[in-house]
Amino acid sequence: MKIQVNARNRAYRFSVAEGQRILYGGLADGINLPYECGSGTCGTCKARVTAGQIDDLWPEAPGRKYLKQPGEFLMCQCTARGDISLEVTNFVYTADPGACRPLPGRGVVRNPRLLTRDVIAFSIELTEPCDFDAGQFMVVQVPGVSGYRGYSMVNFERGAKRLDFLVKKKPGGGASEWLFKGGIEGQSVEWFGPLGAATFFPALAKNLLLIAGGSGIAGMMSILSRACQEHYFDQYHGYVFFGVRGMKDAFFLQELAQFQSEFPQKLAVTIALSDEDAPVGVSDYPGLMFDRGFVHEVAARHMKGKYQNMRAYLAGPPPAVDAAIRVLLLEAKLTADNIRYDKFS
Ligand SMILES: Cc1cc2nc3c(=O)[nH]c(=O)nc-3n(C[C@H](O)[C@H](O)[C@H](O)COP(=O)(O)OP(=O)(O)OC[C@H]3O[C@@H](n4cnc5c(N)ncnc54)[C@H](O)[C@@H]3O)c2cc1C
Ligand code: FES
Repeated sequence: MKIQVNARNRAYRFSVAEGQRILYGGLADGINLPYECGSGTCGTCKARVTAGQIDDLWPEAPGRKYLKQPGEFLMCQCTARGDISLEVTNFVYTADPGACRPLPGRGVVRNPRLLTRDVIAFSIELTEPCDFDAGQFMVVQVPGVSGYRGYSMVNFERGAKRLDFLVKKKPGGGASEWLFKGGIEGQSVEWFGPLGAATFFPALAKNLLLIAGGSGIAGMMSILSRACQEHYFDQYHGYVFFGVRGMKDAFFLQELAQFQSEFPQKLAVTIALSDEDAPVGVSDYPGLMFDRGFVHEVAARHMKGKYQNMRAYLAGPPPAVDAAIRVLLLEAKLTADNIRYDKFS
């Protein structure tokens, strides 16, 4: 089926397979259609159909609250019934030639393991290797659960044969219940990606500020992996703030301490505990700092006067990300381009 997109700056044409979401078809064809979550909540992929018919796969999608005009729909949740024309109000450009092209793929779940009582880590062993950038995510569909969920990659490598993820359980959530029910080793899953613009490249040549609430640490681990592989912290500072409720909710401390120990002069890692005082004398992780407070508050306290030449990456629950964005815009005076985020809505 042929899709014609009339964007603010120019028109594009691409094809979608039967049942393929319009957003995914366009992105796979190298057209940077607007999106943020890729999974029906943010409303960023809003478009208006001007000719032809669409099918809505999830009419209850929360992102539909942003649709105001007749004919508007979410490109990430809709398929074309035949050839269609649509309009988006954004400027739309083609993907950079060097960008990792999002494509559909399949794989099997490997090594699922609990990191805390409500956080699970697992890998997807890929049928075909894939490239992604540090800080990107995939949308993943698990058997028997309708729709895709966004999950950020924890690892970073080119030509990856495995994607590592971590997921915080949402009680009653479709994918959460599937992941935590046990017996998922070897189960087949589908994905589309890589997606997301909160990406880190060593050519950035700026100090890094990484602020993660809970499972938001996933993409930060990927950024840290890439930065450490490239010895980025020989030259630039890195400040990591990882917010959890208490010590029993913390994970990846060993891995974070390992990154810190490789670049002790320039890389600082602080664990922010919202519900309890910082432990005294945590000798297992001598390179890590602990402080009490919400992660954006702890970051604001520790970062005063250190925001020069800075790019910030934020991820986690939307309230945590919004609070950190306010600090970075109002106190740190960072420009919007230097604040990259993923809201785990
Ligand atoms: C960019 C991004 C990256 C993320 N990275 C992570 C991560 O690394 N780790 C992590 O724990 N969480 C991450 N999340 C959140 C994660 O995607 C899920 O929202 C969360 O795990 C809860 O999913 P659930 O299926 O358990 O809950 P549910 O309430 O069942 O579903 C939550 C989300 O799934 C989608 N959805 C639900 N029902 C349908 C349906 N019928 N059809 C289509 N879509 C549906 C919607 O996006 C909805 O908001 C990320 C989210 C985004 C947007
Ligand atoms: S990208 Fe479609 S609702 Fe977020």
